[in-house]
Amino acid sequence: MSERIFIFDTTLRDGEQSPGNTMNTPEKLRVARQLEALGVDIIEAGFPIASDGDFEAVKLIAETLKNCEVAGLARANNDDIDRAWEAIKNAQKPRIHTFISTSDIHLKHQFKKTRDEIVTIAVNAVKRAKKHTPNVEFSAMDATRSDWDYLCKVLAEVIDAGAITVNVPDTVGYTVPAEFGELIRYIKGNVQNIDKAIISVHCHNDLGLGVANSIAAIQNGARQVECTINGIGERAGNASLEEIAMILRTRKDYFDADTRIVSEKIYPTSKLITSITGSSVQANKAIVGANAFAHESGIHQDGLLKSKLTYEIMRPESVGITKSSLVLGKHSGRHAFRERIEEMGYSFGDQEINLAFKRFKTLSDVKKYVYDEDIEMIIMDEIYKIPEKFKLAYLNVTCGNNTVPTATVRLEVDGTTYQEAGIGDGPVDATYKIIKKMVKTTSKLLKFSVNSITKDMDAQGEVFVKIEEKGQTVIGKGADTDIIVASAKAYINALNKLEYVKKRKNEGM
Ligand code: KIV
Ligand code: ZN
Repeated sequence: MSERIFIFDTTLRDGEQSPGNTMNTPEKLRVARQLEALGVDIIEAGFPIASDGDFEAVKLIAETLKNCEVAGLARANNDDIDRAWEAIKNAQKPRIHTFISTSDIHLKHQFKKTRDEIVTIAVNAVKRAKKHTPNVEFSAMDATRSDWDYLCKVLAEVIDAGAITVNVPDTVGYTVPAEFGELIRYIKGNVQNIDKAIISVHCHNDLGLGVANSIAAIQNGARQVECTINGIGERAGNASLEEIAMILRTRKDYFDADTRIVSEKIYPTSKLITSITGSSVQANKAIVGANAFAHESGIHQDGLLKSKLTYEIMRPESVGITKSSLVLGKHSGRHAFRERIEEMGYSFGDQEINLAFKRFKTLSDVKKYVYDEDIEMIIMDEIYKIPEKFKLAYLNVTCGNNTVPTATVRLEVDGTTYQEAGIGDGPVDATYKIIKKMVKTTSKLLKFSVNSITKDMDAQGEVFVKIEEKGQTVIGKGADTDIIVASAKAYINALNKLEYVKKRKNEGM
């Protein structure tokens, strides 16, 4: 019987708090649902005391999810802990995750406390959390730069106080696999009550070792790993969930350990995160990168044609990358469309399928083959969307080497149609200037990028934009076979998100 490793996903907390990865509440809920379907054991939904928005999102997630634990983060003080509890108390299985540093560097320079004072604070925090729930996790921040014996003392005390998971974070991504493995073994051998708690690890990736360190910890007795989808997180990120899950699955023969992750849902989950945050993963990223299963070398291709075993250690299908033999086109019906979506790892109700199918029909009128990537984009655009105050009703652009780029835009604003025309430095600039004027936005455009979704000449263009207003940034995206239309859609999507965030802020959410 192989060892069960618990996956604690912190995409919505450590991941979300990192630059460029901010999500709004509906997006967080969507991610949480997908993580639940992916089979993670614990979702750290956020840091409830950080803001009212964080609190609301954690609460909603806690009240919605049925099959996994929902954790709320709290510093080691009563206010944080009580606020975290308020947010998660309606979860099927709530967990309070409280933390304080144990390294002398942090004690001296940040907390200005003695080692004994920290022990008292940590123990009191765990006792406070225990008043709310038996399910308490304690994290010794900067554990890997802490004195090992002192760390063991803190862990023993918090376990006595009732912590049932003790987390050993490599907060600054400083440790290396052999050393970290040794530390976990040391904790197992020197914390006398360690059998009453699960050892967890939380590795950052500053030296590119987040996953390797987590695996070394598992080999030495850690049974919970904290990680994120696509490895997003503070600075260089956290250990990547998909890599850890697939290392254990692919090398079960070696580790004799496994997770509950439904590996076929890895790729759709990764895509969901990139589509929400606009931060794509590098092409050579293990498991989910665009080239992760692309074989270019002639020798490799020759081997693969003879047997997949020659150069393929995992099947792309096993992580949810499906290359369907069934290419959809304009004659494909609703049934085939739904089947394709389900094969891709998504599950939606009739109403959502109908929405997506309508868009698919429009697309297949202008595009001969509709690939999985196109369908993914339809899902992101049509199903995972936020309320639309502004809608693009019509766009006409003239441009060329001897023409002043001119755009005519018709926008529906809360159901009323307005039209304006104007010029710009190029077709996108002209379009954006008019939209900006019509919406009367003071937001600034920070980022604009265009990618091709598939490789054909009639491929859809995918545009990401990032806009900012009074410190609030949002990402917008749009796709179309016409990249000017895709650009307009992306900008309008960002403006709708901004409106939505502002409205929620005004409503105090
Ligand atoms: O990196 C870290 O130490 C953390 C803790 C809050 C667990 O994120
Ligand atoms: Zn962290």
